[in-house]
Formats: sequence, C-alpha cells, structure tokens
Amino acid sequence: MIPAMSEQATKARTSVSQLRCIGCGRTALPDRFRCEHCRDLLEIIYPGWDDRGPGGLSVSSLKKLWLARRSSLDPVDQSGVWRFREILPEIPQPQIITIKEGNTPVYELPHCARAAGITQLFAKHQGMNPTGSFKDTGMTVAASFARQAGYRWVACASTGNTSASMAAYAARGGLHSLVLIPDGKISWSKLSQSLDYGAITCQLKTDFDGCVRVLNEVVERMPVYLLNSVNPYRVEGQKTIAFELLEHFDWHVPDHIIVPGGNLANSSAIGKALREMKQLGFVSRLPKISVIQAEGANPLVRTIRENGGEALIPVHAETMATAIRIGNPASWKKALRVINESEGTVEQVSEIEMAIAKAEIGAEGIGCEPASAVTLAGLKKLVKNGFVKPSESVVLVLTGHLLKDSEFTLKFHRGDLFTEFPGPEGRELKSNQRAPLILEPSVDAVIELLKSAEK
Ligand code: F0G
Repeated sequence: MIPAMSEQATKARTSVSQLRCIGCGRTALPDRFRCEHCRDLLEIIYPGWDDRGPGGLSVSSLKKLWLARRSSLDPVDQSGVWRFREILPEIPQPQIITIKEGNTPVYELPHCARAAGITQLFAKHQGMNPTGSFKDTGMTVAASFARQAGYRWVACASTGNTSASMAAYAARGGLHSLVLIPDGKISWSKLSQSLDYGAITCQLKTDFDGCVRVLNEVVERMPVYLLNSVNPYRVEGQKTIAFELLEHFDWHVPDHIIVPGGNLANSSAIGKALREMKQLGFVSRLPKISVIQAEGANPLVRTIRENGGEALIPVHAETMATAIRIGNPASWKKALRVINESEGTVEQVSEIEMAIAKAEIGAEGIGCEPASAVTLAGLKKLVKNGFVKPSESVVLVLTGHLLKDSEFTLKFHRGDLFTEFPGPEGRELKSNQRAPLILEPSVDAVIELLKSAEK
C-alpha cells in the first residue's frame, strides 16, 4: 500500500508536464498547439521522470498500483485512463471529466488469424469505450485540461468520432461545444451522437481537411479551446491504450501492433507510450508499430514510399471508411517517427479488402466500423509480403464500434456496395455477405431454410 499523502507529495515533483516542440525542441505555453518559432506540433514531456520516475514510484510499484485501482470505488480510479495518472499531465481531481473510459477488452480472433495466415491474433477493441470509439481515452484528458484552464467553449473538426466524444465530455463537464463536420461525409450515427449530447453541430460544404482550415482560424479569433488531435493532451490520454494492452499481456511485448491511420495521432500516441515504457523500464523492446490507410486516403503511404518521409504528400481523400477520409494529416511527422523507431511499416488496402475484413471481424462476434477493419486487411498483405511472420503475435487496434456505421454494414451484406466483382475477390466477397432473408410467415419455410443452412 502507498500512503495517499506520500503519493501526493512525490507527484508534485515528478508529474509536472511541459510542452516541447517536436521540431526545434523549444518549450511552449501549456495551452498552445504549435511551436511559435517553427510551427511544428508540440508534445508533452515530464522532466521530473528523469530523477524519480512517474509519481516517484518504481516500475513494479506502478504496475501493482494501476492493477489495484481496477477494484477501487473511486470514479477516477475506475477510469481506464486516470488509473494510469502517474504517466499523464497532472489535473486536480475535481476538474477531471470522466465517463469511465478505457479498460477496454482484448479479444482473440482465431478465425481472422487463420484468414491472415498467422496463429496469434488479438484485437484491442477501443470501440467499447463510452461513446463507441478510441477518442474517449484522449478526450477525458484534453477536456479536463480545458475545464481546468478556465475555457467555456471547446471545438473540433471531425470525421464523426472526435465530435461525438468531444460533445459527450463537454456535456459532462459543463462546457459548450462546437462541431465542424464535412457535410454528407460522415455516418449518421456519429452525427446523431453529437446532436444528442448537445453540441452546436455545423455541416460544412467541404471535406475534413477544409473543416480543419476553417476551425484553425476560428480558434485564433475566439476564446475556444481546440480539441482536435493536434491537442497534445489528447495524445497523452490515448497513450493509455498501449499501457492497458501491455498490462493485459503481463508486460510481455507482442511482435506487432497494427493501427488504422487517418490524422495519425493514434499511432503517434501508441508509439509515444511504448517509447516511454521502454525508457522507464516497463518493457525491454518495442513492438513493430504499423499504420494502415485506405488506398484512396493514403498520404502517409505515399509520403514514405515516394519520398522517404521527407515532406508530406497530401492527397484528395476518398474512401467509404469515412472516419479516415483525411488527405492532409496533422500528425504525420509524429507517426513517421514511431514507424521508424519501432521498425514498423505502412500499407494501404482497397475498399473491397477493407469491407471483407470488416465482415470477417464481425463473424467473430466482435465487429467494428469500416476504418478499424483496414487493420486486418493490411495484416493479410503484410503476412503475404513476409513483413509479419506466421509465428509472430499481432494486435489490431480496433478503433470504432460496429454500430458507428450500420449503413455501411447493411449495404455490404445486402450486396449494394460492390456490384460487379468477378474472380477470387468476388467469391470472397460473396462468401462474407449475409443478406437478410425474406420468407413467408410459415414454420415449414423456416425449417426448410435451417436444413439447407446446415448442409
Ligand atoms: N479509426 C476511427 C474509427 C477514427 O474515427 C479515426 C479518426 C481513425 C481511426 C484514425 O485515427 O486520426 O488518430 O489516425 N477519426 C478522427 C475524427 C479524425 O474526427 O473522428 P487518427
């Protein structure tokens, strides 16, 4: 047991965070997003860790403390994010806005493993968060920071999940929220969430990248706190996805972690977490962290393949996986660093590959939204090209819940998404489609169907 008083006393010296530019290394004020000198993104560092470690505690004490908090009745301990608070920026507990995010499940996916040609495949399902996506883990930290800093308004541009999450946390924390989304290009379920949680929701006649441009100016001119993923506090919260995952494996490192890539903050956060875990001595090596994009929204893949990561190649993004329909990702440099450092890679997948993978994840009784399924589709390609060996362990980060985009799922199974697809891919498609059957209301008809389904 660690006495509460001494925990408080040591925290004061060790968990104080600073913002530092990822480009020139200069420090910045706590509520900034870009370096005033070179305009690069900022990241959070903890200078106090160098001497005494997070919370002034040893690695083994931290592991015990974090596990013990799972059975605590304190709402902050019950959050899968705040139970790791020693590795997060310090926020006074009364200011913390939590909806009991995190603590998400890890599932084995034996059938998907077979489809991919490997033996050990797991999914860390971030769709099991309160608003149905991984965004909640970062939002709890950034929204709490906004409240603590005295902001009354928060805002984001979004492809639907950030906005749903932000609207929920703002509502819980008594903040007003403004959402900018691309008109007609996000799923209805996500739009309905931000309406229901009470955000002022604007559909702009542009794409996600256009919404970001507008919002960046709005926050320059108004006292509104930006909750897009350039916000370094969001990245800190999303780090806990990796801490939780490694805790689940009793701190044994999987060989690969595969993440979908949009604005590229989540891959950056997971990589930062693992970098910190290695520096602090939680793990002795890094897993290979790889990022998968849709072929039609592939700026990172192009940037790495065509110019070795020298400068971002923005694209005009187009994919049915609307969550990752992003052509000009803000966090590309952070993600690139993670891929290089961990010796991961990038891959891109077609719409049909993504849709088939989504149905395969669904058939495991798990399900996810289209953007999450690019991970399995990408894994299959990485096994084929030898990057992932059949005996290696792989974790897919599933970022959103199946019900986030039921329209896509219905259209897929009804056969409305891909009409003419000959050859092996067409056969794979057909074997994964499970259209609803329309029958006469007769017992015999149902029994007949059961018998034929058994054959
Ligand atoms: N998966 C889902 C379900 C997402 O909603 C997003 C991003 C990503 C993956 C990509 O994550 O941007 O960190 O690389 N959605 C953002 C939004 C952009 O506004 O909801 P990333």
